[in-house]
Amino acid sequence: MKLKDSGKTAAEIKALTKKYLIETYERYDFICERAEGVYLYDENGDAYLDFYGGIAVNSAGNRNAKVVSAVKEQLDDVIHTFNYPYLIPQALLAEKICTTLGFEKIFYQNSGAEANEAMIKMARKYGIEKYGPNRYHIITAKASFHGRTFGALSATGQPDTACQRGFGPMLPGFSYAEFNNLDDFASRITGDTIAIMLEPVQGEGGVHPATPEFLCGIRKLCDEKNLLLLLDEIQTGWCRTGEVMAYMHYGVKPDILSMAKAIGGGFPISAICTNSEIAKAFNMGSHGTTYGGNSVCCAAALAQITELLDNNLAAAAKETGDYLMEKLRALPRVKGVRGKGLLVGLELDGPVGLAVKHNCLDRKLLVTLIGDRLIRMIPPLTVSRADCDRACAILADSIKAA
Ligand SMILES: Cc1ncc(COP(=O)(O)O)c(C=O)c1O
Repeated sequence: MKLKDSGKTAAEIKALTKKYLIETYERYDFICERAEGVYLYDENGDAYLDFYGGIAVNSAGNRNAKVVSAVKEQLDDVIHTFNYPYLIPQALLAEKICTTLGFEKIFYQNSGAEANEAMIKMARKYGIEKYGPNRYHIITAKASFHGRTFGALSATGQPDTACQRGFGPMLPGFSYAEFNNLDDFASRITGDTIAIMLEPVQGEGGVHPATPEFLCGIRKLCDEKNLLLLLDEIQTGWCRTGEVMAYMHYGVKPDILSMAKAIGGGFPISAICTNSEIAKAFNMGSHGTTYGGNSVCCAAALAQITELLDNNLAAAAKETGDYLMEKLRALPRVKGVRGKGLLVGLELDGPVGLAVKHNCLDRKLLVTLIGDRLIRMIPPLTVSRADCDRACAILADSIKAA
């Protein structure tokens, strides 16, 4: 909807938002009226360079044309039925994802947190049924982020941050080890442990890639101790890091994989994939969701994934990401630059992140902030070198003015 069709002024829309929404986000002070490619446009037609991509969602570009037309076509046929009839987009998407990644089974959900809930539930039920009633413990990483529902939140290794503080006890059955510290993970395995759950690159935790020794060591440990390796690729998945899935950089494969964000092209869909044996843990009535596998979301996801793969956006992410990181290293006040592909973190040498973020916004560059000094960039994978040059020029000015 455009502002002119709403019957309201920009100030009125902002006032309504402030009056009625329970705000847990720091709003960027503009109205997004339209989105296209790597730009968001406000009601005056001013363009904002989008280096957060709907938080790693719009990987094939905002409002990718193929996604838009797939959704429009699907809207004319079926929007939602629940999972009683056979549904064409569901079946086609399942085949596309499973054959691309080499998994046998998929279960659809609606968001990243829900995909992780499903992954945790599946691992626990598998462990309890196979090994006995206490075999449900899962080791996750400190500073991890797995979502905001209670299972996913309990898996999240952030006891001192706002995402867990004030919500009472977390779900039992989780322990937390130092990311990239194989010995710490090994030392926390007990007879009750069923799985290790990780992000291959910690995103919300500050853009920290797993080292090859760590992730390969974890896979080996899981094999030796009969543990499942659960990988959360909600932020890293579908070409973001320069491979279709980030685990492919390491030559390992998880037993259960969760994905969300980039698969839907902006529509709320997520999924877990696994093999036929582990999938048996979910049987009739044991798990479900009203919207999971919704026809419009599946049609969007099929178009989105096809775009990502056919245009080889994994290779583009690697090439452009390397270029961007190199340029970022030359900026003032930079303590470090890290990431993989187009999941990039710029660490500043002091707590000036908020000022830099606001200065970028004034100069019409959209970035996200983690903590008080890490600027994170997760743009559409269609971003060009020229876009990166522009973003770096704006960042340089914004840092100097902070
Ligand atoms: C690694 C990871 N897991 C889970 C989530 C939660 O996803 P959602 O916000 O869709 O529930 C996120 C979101 O940022 C994430 O980055």
